[in-house]
Amino acid sequence: MPAKFDIAIPTFFGTESILAYEATALGYEVGEVTDGRVILKGDWEAVALLNVNLRCGERVLIRLGSFTAETFEELFQGVASLPWEEFIGVRDQFPVTGSSLRSQLHSVPACQSIIKKAVVRRLSRAYGLEHFEESGSKLIIRFNILKDRCDIYLDTSGVPLYKRGYRLEGVAAPMRETLAFAMVDISRWRGDRPFLDPFCGSGTIPIEAALYALNIAPGLKRRFLAESWDCMDKSLWADAREEAVENQNLAAETHIFASDIDPEAVETAKANARRAGVADRIKFTVCDMAKAAEFREKGIVMCNPPYGERLMDKKSCETLYRNMGRKFSRYTEAAKLILTSHEEFEKFYGRPADKRRKLYNGMLKCCLYQYFRG
Ligand SMILES: C[S@@+](CC[C@H](N)C(=O)[O-])C[C@H]1O[C@@H](n2cnc3c(N)ncnc32)[C@H](O)[C@@H]1O
Repeated sequence: MPAKFDIAIPTFFGTESILAYEATALGYEVGEVTDGRVILKGDWEAVALLNVNLRCGERVLIRLGSFTAETFEELFQGVASLPWEEFIGVRDQFPVTGSSLRSQLHSVPACQSIIKKAVVRRLSRAYGLEHFEESGSKLIIRFNILKDRCDIYLDTSGVPLYKRGYRLEGVAAPMRETLAFAMVDISRWRGDRPFLDPFCGSGTIPIEAALYALNIAPGLKRRFLAESWDCMDKSLWADAREEAVENQNLAAETHIFASDIDPEAVETAKANARRAGVADRIKFTVCDMAKAAEFREKGIVMCNPPYGERLMDKKSCETLYRNMGRKFSRYTEAAKLILTSHEEFEKFYGRPADKRRKLYNGMLKCCLYQYFRG
């Protein structure tokens, strides 16, 4: 295995530049930024550091190969030519999963089966074995075929990076932690100014804001798939965590407020904040946004209100947006960032946004409406 390899990090559309900036800040030179993906050169140390530290990005993948495959034979030969024995041990499990889009090889189960056969053939020759019991560590092989170009990866994260591990209890319609961070990043809030989420639900936005302000690495409290791999030096994980702890800025002063009309949601948010280690940094209250105390500060109001899709019907949502427009217009010193999939949000809110940014909440196309001060 070369000292450096290609590391691919998929991310949801609209956040590629945020992820590229994060990777650069960690010291890596980003090679390629395409729709939904960032590629850089890295080593095993990078695998640990990126998994532990990235706030945006879905998983950290080692790209083992990239080749054209229009036939099953080309797919088989391309996969069999990769150095699988450098990663997969005699007893390891190696399930295959993936996707195919706009390609000759469109049957995903058939591609899965060919790739598995090719890896087994390669390992059989390397180890002199016919059968693999697959009872040891798990290495997930991922493939992605797009317009006949096949990328083959090893997934070092396992559980996706947006699952930080603090959100064990859900409420209706929580958002991904990675998306919450992306919104914080877009706002250019750096932890210094007051921050309010008046529709906090399970607390994802204020928790991500607090973690960011204190520079607490998002991956500190969870495990990653590659931690069990024999091909990777286990001390790299301990080193990455130790470095992340040294870089924390727990002395930073923060003023983060969060509220929701639903008392159960607020209890859940508090429990999640406790697990994330930031409960003492967020002031939670149960409160109807329309009746909330005025937010006079020069700060940020950021929220993910109901869209009329999973929570509330469209009509009640539109009334809610009208009330938001009235209430928020009095927060003249604060910038407001509102994420919704409702296409006529601005009409009901009563004011066109100063800036709009397309973002995806899972599969749902949303827009982040940004209102600067005033
Ligand atoms: C889409 S969810 C927020 C999800 C949250 N970002 C998370 O990740 O868990 C919208 C939230 O708005 C709350 N809500 C609805 N109407 C409200 C109102 N008038 N005032 C305050 N909160 C309200 C709901 O209880 C719900 O928790």
